[in-house]
Amino acid sequence: MRYKLLIAMAALGLVATPALAADPIQGLVNTCNNCHGTGGVSVGHSMPSIAGLSETYLKNILMEWKSGARASANMTRLISGYTDAEIAALAKYYAKLPWTPVVQPVAADLIAKGKDITDRCETCHGVTGGKPDDEETPRLNGQWAKYLELEMLKYRDPAFQMTHKKMIRNTQKLDQGDVATAAKYYGAQSK
Ligand code: HEC
Ligand code: HEC
Repeated sequence: MRYKLLIAMAALGLVATPALAADPIQGLVNTCNNCHGTGGVSVGHSMPSIAGLSETYLKNILMEWKSGARASANMTRLISGYTDAEIAALAKYYAKLPWTPVVQPVAADLIAKGKDITDRCETCHGVTGGKPDDEETPRLNGQWAKYLELEMLKYRDPAFQMTHKKMIRNTQKLDQGDVATAAKYYGAQSK
């Protein structure tokens, strides 16, 4: 059992090799960056950038996946292989990197519509998604629109296990057809 676990961990790059031993966080981070992009800035679509999100948000979400309180097709199994201390170190590491918006331009009428339908979101996210009102709120400006859309669909779906009641309520108030528009609106914002 233990042997199998070690093999699984080695496959995920969780077992420090001698070359990485000098800088354990770099070994952990390499695994994450395989999917999330160099320096935690994603190259696309349904894969979110994680560099520059707040330490509190990162830690919350990773610990919720680990405890099973929150579902994720991609992150739950992976994160169960990390200790709480490693998760805390990863959150700290990514939070120190700059937030790097990847601006995905859309037509002006879509921007106007997006701004309109996200009125009720402003108090927490700021007008463009770039001014979160607290440490528990992620940045949305220049995050990948496809990813934002998929997350909103999860918050809206009562069968999908999410934890944040206000986000669940707020996304459920959007018309189905406005979810993608809101996502594209934030994806197009530089700051
Ligand atoms: C096999 C690919 C893969 C690997 C490796 C991976 N992730 Fe992810 N991660 C994803 C995907 C896909 C999502 C999108 C959300 C989902 O699927 O639940 C995600 C979502 C996230 C989010 C949510 C971002 C947001 O804006 O809310 C964080 C934080 C995160 N991952 C951190 C990490 C960390 C830290 C590691 C390394 C320990 C890591 N990921 C490794 C695929 C991966
Ligand atoms: C009361 C404050 C609040 C309001 C209002 C609010 N949000 Fe959020 N939003 C949050 C918080 C906090 C999170 C992180 C929740 C979590 O940990 O699951 C979040 C997460 C998100 C995410 C996921 C981002 C990611 O990186 O995974 C999206 C997309 C989003 N909000 C869009 C919206 C939209 C669109 C609206 C309006 C229809 C809205 N929010 C209204 C506080 C709020």
